[in-house]
Amino acid sequence: MPDISGKKVLVTAGPTHEPIDPVRFIGNHSSGKMGIAIAEEAAKNGAEVTLICGPSRVESSVSVRRIDVQSAQQMFDAVMGLQAENDVLVLSAAVADYRPKQVASNKIKKKDAALVIELEPTPDILASLGAKKRPDQLLVGFALETDNELQNAQSKLNRKNCDIIVLNSLQDAGAGFGHDTNRVTILDRHNNISTFELKSKAEVAKDILQKIKDYK
Ligand code: C5P
Repeated sequence: MPDISGKKVLVTAGPTHEPIDPVRFIGNHSSGKMGIAIAEEAAKNGAEVTLICGPSRVESSVSVRRIDVQSAQQMFDAVMGLQAENDVLVLSAAVADYRPKQVASNKIKKKDAALVIELEPTPDILASLGAKKRPDQLLVGFALETDNELQNAQSKLNRKNCDIIVLNSLQDAGAGFGHDTNRVTILDRHNNISTFELKSKAEVAKDILQKIKDYK
């Protein structure tokens, strides 16, 4: 995909919030910065960008169409509704893997006994896109691994039928959740592996966009 100008690019970003009751949720520390930087960089390259964003304080520019969602299910529904019309899909959101099976309709009262909340898996958006992907579409996933990083990222790439996977490092101070910097390794389906230095998320976004443009 040598040029993404005029192409339709969908990006997911941020965490998801999985409701427990009307006032509580299960969430994570994702800021949305990495995905929003990718959306902005794609727009600068002339793409028509839709950002599906979980709860994030980070703003995006008017050149990006933003759809704000809360839960994994809402993100799934928004993404799957736009799946067919997009050329490039970049899934950088930190989607919750589990959600409460029952959402209480009233605020749960405090009691002396322990509270048990049963969790069920959320839909895997990336895997669902991988199962539906057309040959002309490019699917980019993210991975955050704590052990056997490369091997796990490679098997995720195959399992979820991605073309490119961006491996976030947890090894560096300043990389990952909430920070303005990140250090990534980018793997593709043809076993190319590129490692990058710690840099600003805006610069990392440029590297990711370059990989998308260079992908054959
Ligand atoms: O399996 P794991 O959660 O490590 O995969 C990470 C990748 O899958 C990321 O690209 C993330 O956005 C995506 N994902 C998803 N839906 C989920 C879980 C992860 O799209 N329910």
